[in-house]
Amino acid sequence: MYSKTAELYDKIYGFKDYNDEARRIRELISLEVPSAKTVLDVACGTAEHAKLLSAHYSIDGIDLQPEFVDIAAEKVPSGTFKVADMRSFDMGKRYDVVQCLFSSIGYLLKEEDVVQALECFKRHLNPGGVILVEPWFQPERWTAGLPWMVTVEEPNLKICRMNVSENEGRVSVLNFHYLIADPSGVSHFEEKHLLALYKVEEMLSFFEKAELAVTYDPEGIFGRGMYVARLKS
Ligand SMILES: C[S@@+](CC[C@H](N)C(=O)[O-])C[C@H]1O[C@@H](n2cnc3c(N)ncnc32)[C@H](O)[C@@H]1O
Repeated sequence: MYSKTAELYDKIYGFKDYNDEARRIRELISLEVPSAKTVLDVACGTAEHAKLLSAHYSIDGIDLQPEFVDIAAEKVPSGTFKVADMRSFDMGKRYDVVQCLFSSIGYLLKEEDVVQALECFKRHLNPGGVILVEPWFQPERWTAGLPWMVTVEEPNLKICRMNVSENEGRVSVLNFHYLIADPSGVSHFEEKHLLALYKVEEMLSFFEKAELAVTYDPEGIFGRGMYVARLKS
């Protein structure tokens, strides 16, 4: 999905305040698991959260995109980063916190895939630990037909990423068109991302099916909400 743009990811998402988000994650962790020492970042991407959290916790990560895993391993040399699917990974150890941020869970388009992923997160959780899942949009918050644009301007690099929000039933479609200019010329390509639009009640039922106790905070660290789950006692 991100193979053509992995190297550009941090520039494209430069509008996101990872420092502030990492601070909020730390606040949440210190509230939920004050003694937490270890964190697993599922779908870690380029490890911007992991990099900032690694000053406070021992942090590992997984991601489906090999280019992201290479970037993550370079940014956080103290961690173990693996190419793996969030539905079926095995790190061979448990963590105090398993987090899956920035809507990555939305890439799982079927209920059974989300439940499978949550069961996998659960197998990696220490007793007393916490699972943090930041969701994608709820269906009622998704508006089709809106034009979107992200731009990056540097002396030797210009990026313009445009899309018009679409949906196919309960799946949002992001058909990104990129125009990238660097000293070698201008290139254009497209990248299609599909993310499921789950209702809060549906997400809560997926946690229930994975036999996890869960609460939902509608705000979260980036305004998209946060599910906070624990092993059932
Ligand atoms: C929007 S990015 C978020 C990356 C990172 N967590 C962040 O906050 O910047 C979504 C990530 O989910 C990953 N991803 C999508 N499906 C996945 C799967 N089935 N297993 C593991 N990672 C997956 C993508 O490769 C991508 O890195």
